[in-house]
Amino acid sequence: MKRVKLWDKEFEVSYPNQQIVAAVKDMAVKMKKDLEGKEPLFLCVLNGCFMFAADLLKEVELTDAEVSFVKLASYEGTQTTENIKQLIGLNEDIKGRTVVIVEDIVDSGFTIANLIDQVTERGAADIKVATLLYKPKALKKDVTVDYVGLEIPNDFIVGYGLDYDGRGRNLKDIYTLVP
Ligand code: HPA
Ligand code: MG
Repeated sequence: MKRVKLWDKEFEVSYPNQQIVAAVKDMAVKMKKDLEGKEPLFLCVLNGCFMFAADLLKEVELTDAEVSFVKLASYEGTQTTENIKQLIGLNEDIKGRTVVIVEDIVDSGFTIANLIDQVTERGAADIKVATLLYKPKALKKDVTVDYVGLEIPNDFIVGYGLDYDGRGRNLKDIYTLVP
């Protein structure tokens, strides 16, 4: 299997690009069917989502949808002990709307739970979550994920948008850390 070295660590291909693309196409078929006529707003979570969102949304191909990008920034407040993340880049009024959060990965579930809370607070009527990768064994929060590309073991991965300390995002395949 093909290997790459990123900084001090070795990674081995675990999901080749054609397997990812097939999973993304399957998701897109389901999403298109579900979301037709709902005028959804796709809220894509940077940085990790960039490759997945591009491939997914080309396939979903709805004409009554909008696409926006957000980021979760570490909150420089007084509550340094709490992992509060500020949602930045959401300029749309989402009151009463169908919002589809597009994530690269749901791991512990803390990030997605936080996002769902913030999107709920802003008045979205219906929130769906689409994630390329899902680690059920890593989940520590009770969250519902509506569309999943690949269920994966609880190993550290990189590629196709996901990074190890800033590197690996641009790789077209997904690699797993070699212990
Ligand atoms: N790799 C990279 N980024 C991540 C992961 C992972 O396995 N889980 C959550 N963020
Ligand atoms: Mg992410």
